[in-house]
Amino acid sequence: MILILFLLLLTLHIASPAVASTHPVGADSGSAEDLVVVRREEYDGGRIIDITHAYHEDLPMGGSDEGLGRFLWLTQSMKNGSLANVSEMKFSVHSGTHVDAPGHLFQHYFDAGFDVDALDLGVLNGPTLLVDIPRDKNITAEVMESLHIPRGVSRVLFRTLNTDRKLMWKKEFDFSFVGFMEDGAQWLVDNTDIKLVGIDYLSVAAFDDLIPSHLVFLERRDIIIVESLKLDNIMAGLYSLHCLPLRLRGAEGSPVRCILIK
Ligand SMILES: *[C@@H]1O[C@H](CO)[C@@H](O)[C@H](O)[C@H]1NC(C)=O
Ligand SMILES: *[C@@H]1O[C@H](CO)[C@@H](O)[C@H](O)[C@H]1NC(C)=O
Ligand SMILES: *[C@@H]1O[C@H](CO)[C@@H](O)[C@H](O)[C@H]1NC(C)=O
Repeated sequence: MILILFLLLLTLHIASPAVASTHPVGADSGSAEDLVVVRREEYDGGRIIDITHAYHEDLPMGGSDEGLGRFLWLTQSMKNGSLANVSEMKFSVHSGTHVDAPGHLFQHYFDAGFDVDALDLGVLNGPTLLVDIPRDKNITAEVMESLHIPRGVSRVLFRTLNTDRKLMWKKEFDFSFVGFMEDGAQWLVDNTDIKLVGIDYLSVAAFDDLIPSHLVFLERRDIIIVESLKLDNIMAGLYSLHCLPLRLRGAEGSPVRCILIK
């Protein structure tokens, strides 16, 4: 049964138009120049922008100098005579571009099951503002007030000095990253309708207010935090955001694929 499925997949792959154009059916496997992988940050002429960081060994990890390290292994390998290559992976659910669920910092929410599978896809998908934050401060109440984000805006991606400093492209974790101070988080909760808060490094909260800022956001259970977004080289403005976390039951965080559509 598995073999049949596998052969079916192979057939589908060969029949797909992109492959068919360079590999006539029945031909030998392609020459080396056919086998160049194309990796993209944008699709469809720039209409779709990928704001997810790719997982790789040098991705920074919270508090570490070592980066993510090796996270992917072949458990079955064709070179060893297996019918297919099959990999396994292992990493913290708070690595790379990811979401936090309320159970991340509240034990009673964790026990009650407020995991990533319970996050609202209606909040994770919809119109969003991408805004630039003044580069000389963390996100305080004063900074939040100065942004004049109108009521009714429910998703905001905050681009900070972290993007300019390319912190997500450096293996060593940088504790001086920009994030929310507790009063900034409280100002957002009290004075805006924002339900999705996106940021461009591993934590939405500045290191000095790491726990207090997270608590303010997660306590009400209706705000979703998206961390480590890739916001390089994108115009600030209004987009349609689409974020899909994995349905990991019992997990207080999950990798998420996020895209912007113009
Ligand atoms: C393949 O075989 C080699 C040699 O026996 C072994 O060291 C390696 O772990 C195997 N790899 C996989 C993915 O099975
Ligand atoms: C299958 O695994 C081998 C290592 O055993 C690797 O060299 C090869 O690139 C893999 N093939 C694919 C399609 O990933
Ligand atoms: C933001 O706060 C961190 C400490 O959490 C600090 O190291 C950094 O210098 C601050 N950044 C700015 C731009 O003020």
